[in-house]
Amino acid sequence: MSRTPIVVGNWKMNKAPREAIDFAQQLEARVRNFDSVETAVAPTSLALSGVADALQGSPLKVAAQGAHWEASGAFTGQVAADMLRGLADFVILGHSEVRAYLAETDANVNRKANAVLAAGMQPIIAVGESLAQNEAGETIPFVRGQVRAALAGISAADMARVVIAYEPIWAIGTGKSATSQQADSIIGAAVRDTLRGLYGDTIAESTRIQYGGSVKPGNMAEFMAQPNIDGALVGGASLQVDDFAALVEIAAEMNGE
Ligand code: PGA
Repeated sequence: MSRTPIVVGNWKMNKAPREAIDFAQQLEARVRNFDSVETAVAPTSLALSGVADALQGSPLKVAAQGAHWEASGAFTGQVAADMLRGLADFVILGHSEVRAYLAETDANVNRKANAVLAAGMQPIIAVGESLAQNEAGETIPFVRGQVRAALAGISAADMARVVIAYEPIWAIGTGKSATSQQADSIIGAAVRDTLRGLYGDTIAESTRIQYGGSVKPGNMAEFMAQPNIDGALVGGASLQVDDFAALVEIAAEMNGE
């Protein structure tokens, strides 16, 4: 089954609107000609509308860094999924930083995923274990539990729009990536196999699963060479035009472009 690789730059709390727009335009010029890889950048919510305007009609898509499940109401600091319609194609949910610093729960990731799908966008659902869980041999059951919880109530038809990102927490922003074989086997056993149990073979084989955690131009090819890895969710290396463009170029080359 061929799955279109997807490379997404998560800018986190970096790049205020003016810088975000300039950067998006520079990056766009570098990646627009690769057709075999889907690409997106995730600015802060404040920069979403400017970046969405700047990238209108471009194959470089826009991702939001979160969305609330309610359509409106007394939720200070939040942005409703519905409000992102027309601004974002993707919404990153369940990122470990949000789980760790903002007490994001599996139940809320699930509510948000359903809201994002209902609003016509594509959730990128991040899962991954801590170093302690990894060392205690708890990775597979823990990640399987995160995947199941995040997908509760999501129909087989909607799964075509879901992307999952496996990001071992100990590899995020640390410069310490999982080995590509480690990541591939965890993705196979904890993510793809859980999808198989929930939705059957076809959906398990067609769902795109990214790796995330210290992905750089120097290690991208190794990850992309793995059979279960369909792209990358990138933090640090997405903040430099040359680095992010190199990641996309490597993914495209390895996909036969
Ligand atoms: P990193 O971040 O590439 O800086 O490790 C990855 C992520 O948080 O998605």
